[in-house]
Amino acid sequence: MKSLPLTAVLAAAIIAAAPGMAQDVVAGQKIFKKCAACHTIGEGAKNGAGPVLNDIIGRPAGTFEGFNYGKGMKEASEKGLVWDAEKISEYITDPKKYLRAFTGNKRAKAKMKFKVKDNLQRLDVIAYISTFSTSAMTAQTSEEKGDTDRSILIPSDIPANAICVQNAGHGTHFFAVDGGGDSRKAGHLASGETLCTGALEMAMQGKVSVFETEDHLEGCTRLVPSGTVEQMLKYADFDRCLWSSNDG
Ligand code: HEC
Repeated sequence: MKSLPLTAVLAAAIIAAAPGMAQDVVAGQKIFKKCAACHTIGEGAKNGAGPVLNDIIGRPAGTFEGFNYGKGMKEASEKGLVWDAEKISEYITDPKKYLRAFTGNKRAKAKMKFKVKDNLQRLDVIAYISTFSTSAMTAQTSEEKGDTDRSILIPSDIPANAICVQNAGHGTHFFAVDGGGDSRKAGHLASGETLCTGALEMAMQGKVSVFETEDHLEGCTRLVPSGTVEQMLKYADFDRCLWSSNDG
């Protein structure tokens, strides 16, 4: 087996350990240029081809004043759609598909004809637009006070080289982290909670898994580099979970 030079392994570990790696606001700002063809954000933002995205986190869908939303969006709004990071991620993956699934109306149409297929790009751009949302900012402040209720924030005090997983989705599921040897740990995580192996001796790859419940056999598993917190954004059986990274 070909092994990587130690410096490369170390460099990878350092990059992987950089805080905020999972959601990069600066990268998100660049991606937002694509959205800006239709959306504006920040002070003085005005509706264009798409609605203003200020305060989008926590905002009921289809309610920005003065914007003429499509029928599908209005229907989703009436059925209680309120935007959070996870829902925006699914929506911008495929707006029509999302509105159809949410409303249960197979003919629902989406006025937004733009898709972001790349998971990391979605996370980054949502991290960027979240900086214009007061509810996301409040959540950040309360996280600093030790309230881990906000699912998309990553704890900063993880053990050296640990393999970690965070439940950034809804509901409680059964998670496991495994860095080889006897490092495996498993347990139930509520939304926003994180599970890590202890400090591992060196940078390496490990495994994170999630199951609907403890005795569910079909869950999702992902290979991850140590020193990162992999986020499980949405649970789905048969390895169809949505994760914060596509590596591995
Ligand atoms: C080609 C134009 C266009 C582009 C590009 C576009 N959008 Fe949209 N977006 C729209 C339109 C139009 C709507 C209103 C949809 C409706 O009424 O069905 C919308 C709605 C939304 C909503 C829901 C807003 C609300 O008030 O409920 C979000 C969130 C959103 N877009 C995010 C994004 C993001 C993030 C990007 C970039 C990755 C993006 N959009 C790119 C046109 C666009």
